[in-house]
Amino acid sequence: MAPFLLLLLLGVIGGRRAVVSQASDPTEPMCYDWGESSEAAVSVLDGEAGWLSCPLFSHPSVYNYTSAQSAGHNLLWYRLLDGHDLEQPIMNSSRLSKDRERLWLQPAAANDSGQYICMLRNKSSCSKIAMRLTVLRRAEVLRSADCEPLVAVAATRQFIPMQQGKKLDCPDLQDAVKMSEITPNVTWYHNCSRYPFWNNERQQRGPSLQFHVMIIQYQGPYFCTVQFQRRGRTLQFTRRIDVSAVYPPSFSREPRILSPTQEQVFTVRPGSEVRLACRALLPFILDDPSWDMWWTVDGKTLDKLPDHHRFFQNNSVLKNDFEDKTIESVLVIHDFQSEDLSRELNCSVRNEKGSGSRRAQLEEEVSLPSVELGCGLGVTLVLMLLLFVVYQVFWLELLLLYRSWFGTDERHTDDKEYDVYISYARNSEEEQFVLSTLRGVLENELGYSVCIFDRDSLPGGTITDETLSFVARSRRLLVVVSPGYASQGSQALLELKAGINDMALGGHLRVILVQYKPVQREGWVRELRRARVALALVRWQGDKSRELTSRFWKRLRVELPVRRVSSSGDAALMRLHSQNSTNSQTGLISNMVKEPQTVFNSAA
Ligand SMILES: *[C@@H]1O[C@H](CO)[C@@H](O)[C@H](O)[C@H]1NC(C)=O
Ligand SMILES: *[C@@H]1O[C@H](CO)[C@@H](O)[C@H](O)[C@H]1NC(C)=O
Ligand SMILES: *[C@@H]1O[C@H](CO)[C@@H](O)[C@H](O)[C@H]1NC(C)=O
Repeated sequence: MAPFLLLLLLGVIGGRRAVVSQASDPTEPMCYDWGESSEAAVSVLDGEAGWLSCPLFSHPSVYNYTSAQSAGHNLLWYRLLDGHDLEQPIMNSSRLSKDRERLWLQPAAANDSGQYICMLRNKSSCSKIAMRLTVLRRAEVLRSADCEPLVAVAATRQFIPMQQGKKLDCPDLQDAVKMSEITPNVTWYHNCSRYPFWNNERQQRGPSLQFHVMIIQYQGPYFCTVQFQRRGRTLQFTRRIDVSAVYPPSFSREPRILSPTQEQVFTVRPGSEVRLACRALLPFILDDPSWDMWWTVDGKTLDKLPDHHRFFQNNSVLKNDFEDKTIESVLVIHDFQSEDLSRELNCSVRNEKGSGSRRAQLEEEVSLPSVELGCGLGVTLVLMLLLFVVYQVFWLELLLLYRSWFGTDERHTDDKEYDVYISYARNSEEEQFVLSTLRGVLENELGYSVCIFDRDSLPGGTITDETLSFVARSRRLLVVVSPGYASQGSQALLELKAGINDMALGGHLRVILVQYKPVQREGWVRELRRARVALALVRWQGDKSRELTSRFWKRLRVELPVRRVSSSGDAALMRLHSQNSTNSQTGLISNMVKEPQTVFNSAA
């Protein structure tokens, strides 16, 4: 047997140590040192019984206690206590006793912690190995609840199928049975309560705990305390068993690949990193819970591939349903090659009851056309959006520009005298606006002929007749809306009636409402609307509307007859709009129109 293999078998980790003593006697053989075995490390609770097993015998095919004895071997124990640097031979005492390959601690004391060495020796050969003993003080032991018994040894696990029965034995009980001078006494605990439990579906039979019918509520940690007697001393140790419920074996226990499905196709891009996820259900099997999930490429496992550095597999548990596990295995392929498309990439699962394999279908991503299509669509959308925004912002300007090019001058098609008849309530705030602002701009800046009854009528005529005739001779009736506009018997009401009459008689008159100040919807406005008279409503917006380039004037000009202010009036207005400085705008208007700007000055 090669020493290397032995090293592995014995789980030796520590380096070789110097040979223990005996150097004085030249007849003594050199002792072969196996170092320290990590597997054989032992934890015992302070005050409880425990034991060390010489790890040389943990593989009977190498060292067998019975045959070693017949070859004249002696088993000797030494210890190197924490804080000391001399190994001391252990003599049999009432507290530390040797029994075959074991050293019993009856009970363990806190200062027993340290390194222990067992040495197997006859006249011609010698081997030894070390292990560690840790005696835990009671205060050091971690518990999830204060009512739980203290345990120094790692818990064992037990799985019980639901609705089925099982007998639970206390671990290491048989060792106590061999050592004890009486029949050991076992006490069981679950959920902080000591046996007997609240119902008799779990019953103690001798030292064991019998589950008659397993249900979910019976899961969790169980503790058993074994009490026995040796050399007149009462000794005890406690063990923990974690009990889990599992599905009965009658349920299907075969592994199943959940994804990829038969139809699923992975889209991959050569040159990039490709991740293929495979999911499988691996049911728990009581007798042999081992399972495996792995990827193969052309039937070879990843480590057997010539280009294995590009392939990685990563398994993770997605779900654990009473130990039936859903596992995801992700195959990561770095720098995916076009040749990989034709390789057979299989995801495989296996457990005790069966196995399965599913090939991952791959298809190359058709990237270029879709990018171009996307770009084209995107550009079109952006352009449309841009046009929409331009139209929303500049529709008035566009309309004016269109009219200045293609609109017909109504002067050539009718025989009317005035472009605009302005109707307003006398002695109101609006009168000031009409006389100083509206009139001035319409006449001087925009070149319309304006009729204002109080100014243009000749004294002497009948007011009614004259009003009717003036309105009939105008192309537009501009009504400046104000709260008292249509009051009974006013001149304004007369003008409005004249206008409506004209329209009703099929005259070419159009009514434009101008709202100087926000007013409640007047009843007559509503009536006009109901009469289906085409009404345009233009709102004056205070200082914002003073500039000739403001929305108010543009709206108004759209409603008024086509008139070219000057040869390039509209173009000039468009240009004005794009300039921000008020001063330069006023300057340009002054240049454009010969008369001084009394209107704006007085308005400001
Ligand atoms: C150890 O050897 C003896 C006889 O040499 C044999 O009877 C016994 O079964 C062996 N023990 C083991 C555990 O192999
Ligand atoms: C000592 O043990 C070895 C086997 O481990 C055996 O071959 C040898 O004969 C024994 N020597 C004596 C003196 O008994
Ligand atoms: C790969 O999986 C398919 C089923 O998808 C199977 O027919 C084929 O035999 C598998 N190949 C290998 C090498 O396991």
